Amino acid sequence: MTDKRPLRSAQWFGSADKNGFMYRSWMKNQGIPDHEFQGKPIIGICNTWSELTPCNAHFRKIAEHVKQGVLEAGGYPLEFPVFSNGESNLRPTAMLTRNLASMDVEEAIRGNPIDAVVLLTGCDKTTPALLMGAASCDVPAIVVTGGPMLNGKHQGKDIGSGTVVWQLSEEVKAGKISIHDFMAAEAGMSRSAGTCNTMGTASTMACMAEALGTSLPHNAAIPAVDSRRYVLAHLSGMRIVEMVHEDLRLSKILTREAFENAIRLNAAIGGSTNAVIHLKAIAGRMGVELELDDWTRVGRGTPTIVDLQPSGRFLMEEFYYAGGLPAVIRRLGENGLLPNPQALTANGKNLWENCKDAPIYGDDEVIRQLDNPLRADGGICVLRGNLAPKGAVLKPSAASPALMQHRGRAVVFEDFDDYKARINDPQLDVDETCVLVMKNCGPKGYPGMAEVGNMGLPPKVLAKGITDMVRISDARMSGTAYGTVVLHVAPEAAAGGPLAVVRNGDFIELDCASGRLHLDIPEAELQARLAAWQQPQGLLWDGGYRRLYVDHVLQADEGCDFDFLVGCRGSAVPRHSH
Ligand code: FES
Ligand code: MG
Repeated sequence: MTDKRPLRSAQWFGSADKNGFMYRSWMKNQGIPDHEFQGKPIIGICNTWSELTPCNAHFRKIAEHVKQGVLEAGGYPLEFPVFSNGESNLRPTAMLTRNLASMDVEEAIRGNPIDAVVLLTGCDKTTPALLMGAASCDVPAIVVTGGPMLNGKHQGKDIGSGTVVWQLSEEVKAGKISIHDFMAAEAGMSRSAGTCNTMGTASTMACMAEALGTSLPHNAAIPAVDSRRYVLAHLSGMRIVEMVHEDLRLSKILTREAFENAIRLNAAIGGSTNAVIHLKAIAGRMGVELELDDWTRVGRGTPTIVDLQPSGRFLMEEFYYAGGLPAVIRRLGENGLLPNPQALTANGKNLWENCKDAPIYGDDEVIRQLDNPLRADGGICVLRGNLAPKGAVLKPSAASPALMQHRGRAVVFEDFDDYKARINDPQLDVDETCVLVMKNCGPKGYPGMAEVGNMGLPPKVLAKGITDMVRISDARMSGTAYGTVVLHVAPEAAAGGPLAVVRNGDFIELDCASGRLHLDIPEAELQARLAAWQQPQGLLWDGGYRRLYVDHVLQADEGCDFDFLVGCRGSAVPRHSH
């Protein structure tokens, strides 16, 4: 409390003149006493609460606990709403509006009397959106996640968010279960407040926020309805006030070293492929260099030791009870596998200080020993070749080992509608050795790069008891999904990437060990096809946000941010509004 730098908020509330009068007077209509404006740090609570984002629908209660902590530490909390990206409802995909939300966050912080922010994040895109926006302002910020749902329950068994939907819908198609059994799982899967309880994108990004050092330890895994989630919210509220006095801005935490830790942790937890895009976008806002090949350099070869669905068996509840992310960090660190133990975190200590004594429970079943991993080759497999000159990704821990080196005949779908129209056709010329290829599902093509990359298999293949085939697209995949699925092919088909000119009957070679994705046609033929390519009709939106999106979105290897949003623009106070 010794810091004497003037508060940012003093440029609104600190003067005894016409401007100060105006800024304070209207605020006083909320019943705020005069002394609250006299030099207390103003803490913005950036809330993604929405009843249309069910994963974040309990956030007003979390905000109340944050406020208690802020007040206790001598700050003053002011809660504000930002665009809420709800994965389950938003069409055509919540990814379309991640950048919109990030702009909302950035401008709300910069334009308001805020000294620091608590970022209330939950459902998949809300975490990157808020971190991107706050990073572009570079104010002190701390992430408080809403926490995962309790384990789903169905017919006496635990079921995982999302993952069970993919499993059961394939079983219905294969005739193994009835449609009534399928529908009965609906209410059991989502039986408490919180985000997906699998290691899907929400849990992955919560772990990434913790690995990056932007939250207090254990933020990622405490279940949404566990009282300790509210304790964490309270403590985060207390801590953010200290962070103002210490001037502990995001740029001191979101360093290159922090991102390397996050990449390594993503491999250890079997995290979502979506993290590749989101971490790149967050790094871009902070001005930190991060390339696709960093995922190979830092992440590949790291064993996946967290045995959670969709790669493994358990759910986030068990992960928390087994020790959560601090336990994973300890296990990596004790084996020399934490790239940067000294990276600073939000509580003012470094990552290793926070985790070196973390208890590990659960008999090494949920958080496994490094010599008994879920998958020895965790991490993200980055692929390149004439089919993906700017890269593509595959998640080995969710793939079939036998298919990770494969040559097969392409069965091509021009877009998602074409796929849906033909995949169930008994006449479709396909067998399990083929490679399913889908175009025009990338950032510009969908638009928004929907999570449709894990194409369900043709029924006639499923009927043989086959559950996996090689699939390739410029789409993303839900973090709750699995399979030998090549994603994020860049450049995308709608931007004229080579994916656009793959034809039925072409042969494609996938080799994860060497990171190769090859369209086996002569180079001259490939060039001739590319020269003849024309942008598909119907992609050009005539207006609105989608127009802005298609015109400015970067490709997957660049994080799908808008070209004009990359970078940190700081928190300098804008000129007066009146
Ligand atoms: Fe919101 Fe999965 S749908 S976290
Ligand atoms: Mg998801």
